Amino acid sequence: MTTEPARSVDDAAAGTGSSEGSPRHIAIIMDGNGRWAQRRGLPRIAGHRKGIEAARTVVKTAGALGIEVLTLYAFSSENWSRPASEISDLMDLLRRFIRKELEALAEEGIRIRVIGDYQAFEPDVVELIDRAIARTETNSKATLVVALNYGSQSEITQSVRKIAADVAAGTLKADEVTSSTIERHLSTDGLPPLDLLIRTSGECRLSNFLLWQSAYAELYVTDTLWPDFDEQSLRDAVSDFSQRERRYGGL
Ligand code: IPE
Ligand code: IPE
Ligand code: MG
Repeated sequence: MTTEPARSVDDAAAGTGSSEGSPRHIAIIMDGNGRWAQRRGLPRIAGHRKGIEAARTVVKTAGALGIEVLTLYAFSSENWSRPASEISDLMDLLRRFIRKELEALAEEGIRIRVIGDYQAFEPDVVELIDRAIARTETNSKATLVVALNYGSQSEITQSVRKIAADVAAGTLKADEVTSSTIERHLSTDGLPPLDLLIRTSGECRLSNFLLWQSAYAELYVTDTLWPDFDEQSLRDAVSDFSQRERRYGGL
């Protein structure tokens, strides 16, 4: 289940964080679709199409590995700066993915959660996303978190704004604000702490993804382009993680 409260860095330092074995929560920056297509002389959309297949495979593999939460970065708040035609292609793929896979995901016991301001999408896409969330709400085998129109700085800003409003209203004292207060207002509230953050295609940056939540996540960057990331790739990343020693600033 994923209902236990997120642990803060302080709790992790006190020795309650997972320090070995399997990660409970994996997040992936699925990057490299465009380059995958370009290398084959194909349009970028072909890479995105193949990328969706990779995402489906990885969801299945994560389930088989007993990963509690898989968070996938599918569309960033900065991706609006791409050509309108690419954004429209991505939205079509999202529509098709939900229509095609929702029932199977629901049957597999997966709960779907979305982080990011997906309300900014076309109304029919918003409706499909809401349907996916509602259809899988009572599932508890694993959680698939999809980051859609997500940006971490905006998420943290919104959290701070809500806390500031509580302080202004007198329902919270400024010196009672802790890291847990901030975490409770993030869209990842209630999820286990992020253990492993994977980025494909070799880029070594976070691109505004889970900045707060990555504080003590183990980072894993692979040159593999997202459409080529398969079952074995995820198993390799998890196996690499299990060799890491997490110290949280201690010895
Ligand atoms: C990641 O692949 C998918 C999204 C950002 C939606 P890209 O589209 O960023 O692929 P590259 O980085 O151009 O190869
Ligand atoms: C990050 O990839 C966003 C997603 C994977 C959805 P980008 O391709 O948008 O990141 P940058 O532009 O290389 O930083
Ligand atoms: Mg990219």
